[in-house]
Amino acid sequence: MNMENTKSVQNKGLGKYAWPDSFWPEFIDKYWELAPTSFKSPGQEPFINLEELFALVTNMPSRIPSDRFWIARNVPPKSVRDFTMGSLNLFGPQKSDKSFENYFNRVKHHSTGINIHRLQVRQDLWKRTKGFIKNLSKVKGRPPAENWDLDTFFGTYRATPFGIHKDPASVFAFMLMGERTYCTWESDYFTTGDKALQTPDLDKIEPHLKNAETFTVRPGKVFYWPSNSWHVVLSNGKPSVVAQISAYFKHEDLPHWDKKTPGY
Ligand SMILES: [Fe+2]
Repeated sequence: MNMENTKSVQNKGLGKYAWPDSFWPEFIDKYWELAPTSFKSPGQEPFINLEELFALVTNMPSRIPSDRFWIARNVPPKSVRDFTMGSLNLFGPQKSDKSFENYFNRVKHHSTGINIHRLQVRQDLWKRTKGFIKNLSKVKGRPPAENWDLDTFFGTYRATPFGIHKDPASVFAFMLMGERTYCTWESDYFTTGDKALQTPDLDKIEPHLKNAETFTVRPGKVFYWPSNSWHVVLSNGKPSVVAQISAYFKHEDLPHWDKKTPGY
């Protein structure tokens, strides 16, 4: 096989992860860094599937401070302090669990949440996500992406442990397991210091749900939100898993961001 043929076979293999060229113009026009939306994934397969993700997160060579493992010590949690931080390597998913299903079964008596970044240590994932970077890094009239990260959230928490917040990022969440409801609010809905922010206390979040735009998503769906959206994830307490593609921006490129904005 000559080089050209080898390349076309590789690209063919990657085709199942690519989103069609026709997807991007309308998405950019209506949503990119403008508004949240959910939709059936236009790719045949997510950039990483459950089995690949489990193998990856139990084989990573190192952890970084933003990789976190929350375990609720008081249920229902009323504050982020009602979660204790566990060691991912000691108490997180282990190779011996073999699957997310077995891992969740092992910790089923606890409300837990895990966020692991830098899935791109598996470098071939960049090839599967290159359409995002190519089409979205530099869009006229929108902030330029400073860097991209691939990460995952999984757990059984009923609300994001650190509550309603913003990120200096545009995020695509690919649902791989379970069901999650993403609640979003426009940038000026909350002001810094609001008691409903940064808490998993549903009593503080619920009064604002009537003003939220909500998106319930299951496997096969993608949820997208821009950096101007306040957001929190709610669930029924059953296991859920997402893999995310995030474009991070410089704070100074975001008109809705100031140094007191509570984000992660
Ligand atoms: Fe977030």
